[in-house]
Amino acid sequence: MNLIVTGGAGFIGSNFIFYYLDKHPDDKIICVDKLTYAGNLSTLEPIMDNPRFKFVKLDICDRENIYKLFNDEKPDIVINFAAESHVDRSIEDPEIFLRTNIIGTSVLMDACIKFGIKRYHQVSTDEVYGDLPIDRPDLFFTEQTPIHTSSPYSSSKASADLLVMAYNRTYNLPATISRCSNNYGPYHFPEKLIPLMIVNCLHDKPLPVYGEGKNIRDWLYVEDHCKAIDLIIRKGRVGEVYNVGGHNEMKNIDIVKLIVHELGKSEDLITFVKDRKGHDLRYAIDPTKIHDELGWYPETKFKDGIKLTIKWYLENKSWWEKIISGEYKNYYQKMYGER
Ligand code: NAD
Ligand code: TYD
Repeated sequence: MNLIVTGGAGFIGSNFIFYYLDKHPDDKIICVDKLTYAGNLSTLEPIMDNPRFKFVKLDICDRENIYKLFNDEKPDIVINFAAESHVDRSIEDPEIFLRTNIIGTSVLMDACIKFGIKRYHQVSTDEVYGDLPIDRPDLFFTEQTPIHTSSPYSSSKASADLLVMAYNRTYNLPATISRCSNNYGPYHFPEKLIPLMIVNCLHDKPLPVYGEGKNIRDWLYVEDHCKAIDLIIRKGRVGEVYNVGGHNEMKNIDIVKLIVHELGKSEDLITFVKDRKGHDLRYAIDPTKIHDELGWYPETKFKDGIKLTIKWYLENKSWWEKIISGEYKNYYQKMYGER
């Protein structure tokens, strides 16, 4: 099978590509990525010469070239990871979120219809459900929970989900959606909570915790998310939404303290800063549907996953140091400048 994977130079997309190529030795992946600030081509360096992999630098909103690519490559399956993904950036400047996350999704789906693709999968987020109260641990997001967004990011992702459902019903697009909780693991861009805290800790820099650090997220090791998507595109029912989450709720402050202790640093580094505007209180996924229908469950326990993640950041300093210095942006020029 031929897959188009968008956003594959980012955190989850790159982890998915590595997982998938390894698991399915007869399949081929074409990665489409615009290489925004969040896209890092050097992540994909180990597979650049793999004959079953091809990288194409392209904006998913570029209709003409997306159609041309679909025409040339004739993909069977399209998985859309490409997105603007950082809530804080969406609060500062929402417009690019609307463009990439909504218009980009519609361009990809139009291409899928035009070229008769077998499956379109939309990688969405639990943030489309808004938040849950901190003092009601009995409440979880199910696939029936109404969409009720808080940030420009989550609103753009929810808009895309509604479009996917509309394309499925109106044009019979064979589409599925997964809504996953917060991921962590290798290649996570160091603007997000866990990698930022690891990198700041290693530099003995302040650890900025928003508000009182009481907000709760439901953390999932990225490889478990990749496994869920692989199952959904093969065995998931068309037209369905699948929630993906690890039943691993943690307060932000507890995550930060854990990282501090693992790295042998002092809690004095923790600095409470002004809260995020509209900050969602708690996310918590009920993954019963994907467990019962597809047999998925989170295989990596948080206590193991966080150790693996910290170890990865310690062993791959050059990956994140190039991001902090901005040097990673030169990689595309180095790889493709002469071609
Ligand atoms: P990321 O920001 O690390 O990567 C996004 C990638 O998309 C980057 O490589 C970027 O260059 C690319 N991209 C951005 N705009 C593009 C465009 N217009 N055309 C082509 N490529 C473009 O994001 P991530 O954390 O890997 O998230 C991937 C997907 O998973 C997103 O759709 C996100 O909403 C969703 N998601 C993320 C999490 C999480 O915890 N990170 C949780 C649930 C869902
Ligand atoms: P983040 O990693 O940005 O993911 P999301 O907002 O999509 O859940 O943030 C995770 C939580 O950590 C969120 O409650 C905001 C908080 N946070 C901080 O306290 N300090 C930080 O520097 C960052 C980036 C996030």
